[in-house]
Amino acid sequence: MEQKQHYLWWQSGIIYQIYPRSFQDADGDGVGDLKGIIQRLDYLKWMGITAIWVSPIYPSPMADFGYDISDYCGIHPLFGQMEDFDALLKEVHQRDMKLILDLVPNHTSNQHPWFLESRSSRDNPKRDWYLWHDAKEDGAEPNNWLSVFGGSAWEWDQQTEQYYYHAFLKEQPDLNWRNPEVQRAMFDVMRFWLDKGVDGFRVDVMWHMLKDEELRDNPTNPDYEASKSTYDQLIPAYSTDQPGIHDLVAKMRQVMDEYDERVMIGEIYLPIHRLVTYYGQDNKGAHLPFNFMLVTLDWNARTIRSHIDEYEGALPAGGWPNWVIGNHDQPRITSRVGNAQAKVAAMLLLTLRGTPTLYYGDELGMRDVPIPPDEVQDPQGLNMPDKDLSRDPARTPMQWSPAKNAGFTDGKPWLRLPDNYKRINVEVQQADNYSMLHFYRRLIKLRQSEAALSIGDYAPVLTNGPILTYTRKAEGSTFLILLNLSHKPCIFRAQTETYRGKIIIATDPEREEKTVSGNIALYGDEGLLIALDNA
Ligand code: NOJ
Repeated sequence: MEQKQHYLWWQSGIIYQIYPRSFQDADGDGVGDLKGIIQRLDYLKWMGITAIWVSPIYPSPMADFGYDISDYCGIHPLFGQMEDFDALLKEVHQRDMKLILDLVPNHTSNQHPWFLESRSSRDNPKRDWYLWHDAKEDGAEPNNWLSVFGGSAWEWDQQTEQYYYHAFLKEQPDLNWRNPEVQRAMFDVMRFWLDKGVDGFRVDVMWHMLKDEELRDNPTNPDYEASKSTYDQLIPAYSTDQPGIHDLVAKMRQVMDEYDERVMIGEIYLPIHRLVTYYGQDNKGAHLPFNFMLVTLDWNARTIRSHIDEYEGALPAGGWPNWVIGNHDQPRITSRVGNAQAKVAAMLLLTLRGTPTLYYGDELGMRDVPIPPDEVQDPQGLNMPDKDLSRDPARTPMQWSPAKNAGFTDGKPWLRLPDNYKRINVEVQQADNYSMLHFYRRLIKLRQSEAALSIGDYAPVLTNGPILTYTRKAEGSTFLILLNLSHKPCIFRAQTETYRGKIIIATDPEREEKTVSGNIALYGDEGLLIALDNA
């Protein structure tokens, strides 16, 4: 008999990202915390979520809201104490879910003791832990590299008269990953959390971790448009995705492999052919190099179809796919594709082959909240005010109920809520079978109960026009997925075979339970998930 393949939790499961500042505040200071997350675990379980990724909760001056870490092995008092973390981990595991932490190895806070030592003198033993370089003869920066958050990536240090490199804020100096002591120190950080029982890491900006040793200038980007971030003026050819990175990722993976069944997810924004190299030789790199195509591609069937197929084709043998619909750095899905397409997007995310990651609040159809200029908090928005790059709109508090502040806090929320939260919230949507929340939940539950959808094969189905069509298949069952990415009705004309089956989930529930065969007419913005007879 053929041996059944064993799938791991991070392959068959569903990941939900919590931005801890905005999920649930338990102590009334207007900022979410760990106790708050614990209060809401039953909700996540009810929805069918199997793993939670929590953005940074460590001590931090909060220049970049926790992505500037001053102690990798502690908990920021805003979020709670280590006891609260231990309780969270226990409660997550008791519900048979997994907990993934954010690991930020590329840079520390400029208040981290390592950096304070490193900057104290040129001969400090930790000097080489960061990227210090002399000025050019005329005093200029060592090269032309730019910071993702605007301006030069080099900051002059008056006291020791050298520049240090920071890919993000000057408060986030980059570590020198070519230094073995840095490697050892960060591997110990990983072990600290893995020993506690944490189930994995989402690794921040993995493709930034090594930079060109010769510090060659980055080339100018011929396609730069002035409306874009100033960072896009150059192609980061020498400051990211450098030779040697895969050896480093493999070393991190070895640390993960000292433990059972942990997952390493890499945050990597690269084109497909570069992205898939992060699976590493013999899949000994990242388990899941985050695939951001649904976040970055134009929303049209032609583009998305060809990228799905390109991705499927580019995956190394044994490399497990994954899909992301949103995160704390990007506009929310509803604000990118519009309310009408939001259910279509959900159906796409939850029927593609590969682990889905969804972002808190997307299951309600939460939209980006416009933040008045004097309330902007995100440094990316503040540093480039004319470019509309603030990430605050996608980071607003979770909308739990029609109560004050949507049940997020008794205090003053750190970011404002939208005017419509009394209508768009968990409580109201739980009571409405036609809501976005129920739509997400039903898709999640079906995916979890049908091998065809969670681990089954993917095959594109040839069509024209604005429909995205594919099948998912496992032994004994096949589903056909039809997604109309346009607002107009259209007809699915099967070109190679006749499909017959029953609609199981539809964006308009009135369509469910109907049988369809042959050419299938779709409403605008419609998605159909069809169980095929001829499976
Ligand atoms: C990526 C994180 O997702 C983002 O929020 C952060 O600002 C940068 N990395 C820097 O850590």
